Formats: sequence, structure tokens, C-alpha cells
Amino acid sequence: MSKSISGFSKLSKAKKIDWIVDTYFSNSEEAKTIIKQYWNTDEKIQQLHDEFIENTITNYYLPLGVAPNFLINGKLHTIPMAIEESSVVAAASKAAKFWLDRGGFKTEVISTTKIGQVHFMYRGDFNKLKTFFEQVKPKLFSDTASITKNMESRGGGITAIELRDKTNDISGYYQLHVSFETLDAMGANFINSCLEQFAKTFKNEAQTFNLFSEEEKQIEIVMSILSNYVPDCLVRAEVSCNVEDLSESQTISGEAFAHKFVQAVNIAEIEPYRAVTHNKGIMNGIDAVVLATGNDFRAIEAGVHAYASRKGRYSSLTHASVEDGKFKFWIEIPLALGTVGGLTKLHPLVKLALELLHHPSAKELMQIVAVAGLAQNFAALRSLTTTGIQQGHMKMHLMNILNQFGANDDEKQVLTEHFKSHTVSHNAVSEALNKLRSTGA
Ligand code: HMG
Repeated sequence: MSKSISGFSKLSKAKKIDWIVDTYFSNSEEAKTIIKQYWNTDEKIQQLHDEFIENTITNYYLPLGVAPNFLINGKLHTIPMAIEESSVVAAASKAAKFWLDRGGFKTEVISTTKIGQVHFMYRGDFNKLKTFFEQVKPKLFSDTASITKNMESRGGGITAIELRDKTNDISGYYQLHVSFETLDAMGANFINSCLEQFAKTFKNEAQTFNLFSEEEKQIEIVMSILSNYVPDCLVRAEVSCNVEDLSESQTISGEAFAHKFVQAVNIAEIEPYRAVTHNKGIMNGIDAVVLATGNDFRAIEAGVHAYASRKGRYSSLTHASVEDGKFKFWIEIPLALGTVGGLTKLHPLVKLALELLHHPSAKELMQIVAVAGLAQNFAALRSLTTTGIQQGHMKMHLMNILNQFGANDDEKQVLTEHFKSHTVSHNAVSEALNKLRSTGA
């Protein structure tokens, strides 16, 4: 029977673990062994990880893989990917290799604006609020000068502050809608600090604005927070080639493949049930690189899916066309990423991942991440429209199934060979392993 606990956060790590294993596990010693098995032997590294979050009891491993051969704007990259799902890294690698001989990926950053908002309530004359806003605006900038100084010296800062009337949606509701340029930083702390200062200044200055009545002076700040919806922090990645160059095998011509591929993308553009899965495949690539480079994949996910619904219907993030014998496949996606601050200087594997990518700027990372998404989608659609997804996916999943059945190294070797010419399924692996164990063949 579970029980609640007060003061858990104040316990030592050892005591937290004792409480967890005693409260929740029938075999507390076994649970403790598993928890400790994943501690780093280097105490400093373990302490670093303990301190990333709160109430840490152990580490949760994800594999870090690499996908080589990405030619992006003429420069070769090997892309780091942190992900638990088999076949994603292989698919990205295969797509990279395919486009390596066909001109590679072309990318461009379209815009880099990030948004934050102060949400507030005001009950009174909108014209007076507008006048107040114009009058207080210079002070909003000057009161945040100490926060923006360094960012401005690097070329960034606050780029616009707008007053927005949202009273059609909620009575009395207005916003300060603020645009920021945060350069190589994701910028969450910078943006939130600026917004909280705006809120203070706005509320305080309202007290002495002589056009306001006593009631109008009582501006109520609801909250001040950045937005993870960043439709103007946009990057584009594209591949293209002559249709006949798409053909790789005798089984399908370049024309037939291009036609089917474009149909598959068109379906994802109009059919939300398909679009969600289509975009999930894109996010396989995007999240894996975002995670490997120490960025916030929850923020990216939320922003990307909002963008996919911006026209009122959830739709594909990628697009494809065939015109004048040329196949074109591209993605436009909002990505607010950072290559300084946050985990980038702290997590040893994030540092390693960024060095592998030649220490990219945030703009360069946006392009690399968009490419990972496009490549992933290309690989998935290529499989879906030709062999079906299961063939390649199950081929990569074989090792997981063998591990589930406790296969030893020799069994793995024999069965990997066997399944080069047989279809992988859970049942087929189980039968083949049983046969191998009982007959040795
Ligand atoms: P294949 O043709 O059997 O692979 O493809 P291959 O053995 O001929 O090797 C060709 C290249 O693929 C290799 O070149 C590698 O680049 C890569 P090489 O290194 O030999 O010069 N590759 C590998 N890389 C690392 N480790 C491996 C490996 N094997 C091949 N073990 C493959 C096999 C799985 C790549 C192919 O079938 C494929 O791309 N399938 C798509 C898989 C996929 O999309 N997985 C994502 C998970 S499914 C999902 O969640 C999304 C989905 O629902 C989205 C949607 O619906 O749109 C599908």
C-alpha cells in the first residue's frame, strides 16, 4: 500500500532510495541494485547529473548514435542522435547516403524571432490604455537595460513591443506581445526576465498615469512568460534531383517512385490521421538531435505541432512536388534552439555532440535539425511506398527481440545471419531461437 511523505526533498539521496524501495518494491534489495547499477563510477559526473534535476535517484540511459554522410550546403556532417527507437538512426543514415550522391541538402534560416507575452487584465477605456502604452514604452526598454546589455552588445535584444487587445476572447484581457532576438541562446531565461520586469514597470507606472481613473490604474498582471510557439523562428531544408535519378533498384522506376512519394505527402497534407504519424516520423529525427544537443524537446514538440495546425487543420510539415522532371522535397519548421547556455556547457555528452557538429551557431543547428527531420521523413516514406515499413523496421528491431528472449552472443550471430533472408517477426524469432536451442540449427 502506497503512502504519502512530507519532507522527501530534504532527505539524502540514500534515504530517498531507501524510502522508495521499502515503499514500492517487493524485493527492495533487487530494486536498489538496479538503481545503483546505473550510477556513474566517476562521482563528479554522477553529482553533475544528480544536480540537473530534483530528487534524482539514478540515471536513465538513452543510446547516443551517429548518422554519417549528411551533406548540408556542401559541408559534410555526422549527426548525433539520442533516441531509444530502433531503425531511426539507420533510416537517417540511409537517407543521408542516398542524397550524398544527389547534391545533398540545401538549407536556409528564414527568421529567428522569439516571442514572449505579459498577460494582463484592464477594465477601462482602450484609448487611454493605448496612450499609456506609448508613454511607458521607452521606460519598458530602459528598465530592462541591465538585462539586455550583454545580449545587445552581441547584436540581439528586444526587437518590438506591441499592445494587443484580446477582449473579443476574454473580457478585459490584453497583452504586451514582445519580440526578441536571442542569437545563439534559446533565450528562455533572458526573455522571462525581461517580461517580468515589463510587468513590474507597467503595473507601477499605471499607478501614476493621470488619464487613468482609480479603477483603470488597477492593472492586474496575470502572468509573464515566453511562448514556445515560434512561427517566425523558421528554417527550411530541401532536397531535389531529376526524377530519373531517384531510381535505385530495378523494382520501381524514378517516375513511379516520385509519383507515389508525392501522393503520400499530399495525403499527409489533407488527412490529419495520417499527418500525425507522418510528423511523428519527422520528429523521430528532430527530437533525437535536439536531445543530443541539450535542447528542450518538449518546447520544440509543442511549437512544431502548433505550427502544423496553423491553418486550422493539422497537416504535414513536409511538402513534395514534381515539376518539369524535377523532384523536390522540403520542410519548413519553427525551431527555437540554443548552442550556448542551458546544458550545453554542463552535460559532457552535449559538449561532445556540439563538437562533433563543429560547434554550430544556433542558426546552423536549426539547419542541421531540420535536415534530420527531412531525412527521417524521406526514409520512412521511401519504405512505406515501396517495401512497407515492417521489413526494415523489424530488421533493425531483431536485436531487441533477441535480447527479450535472452539470446546469447552465439545465438545472436546465427540468427542475425538467418534473418538476412527471412522475415523478422516476434513469432518467427521465437520459433527460430527455440529450434536453435533444441536442435542446434
Ligand atoms: P536497408 O536497405 O535494409 O539497409 O535499410 P542496408 O543494410 O542496405 O544499408 C544501407 C544503408 O542504411 C547503410 O549504409 C546505412 O547508412 C543504413 P552503409 O552504412 O552500409 O554504407 N543502415 C544502417 N545504419 C546503421 N546501422 C544499421 C544499418 N542498417 C542500414 N544497422 C533501413 C534498412 C532500416 C535503413 C530502411 O529500411 C529504412 O530506412 N526504413 C525506415 C525506418 C524508419 O523510418 N524507422 C523509423 C521508425 S518507424 C516510425 O516510427 C515512423 C513512421 O510511422 C513514420 C511514418 O509513418 O511516416 C514510419
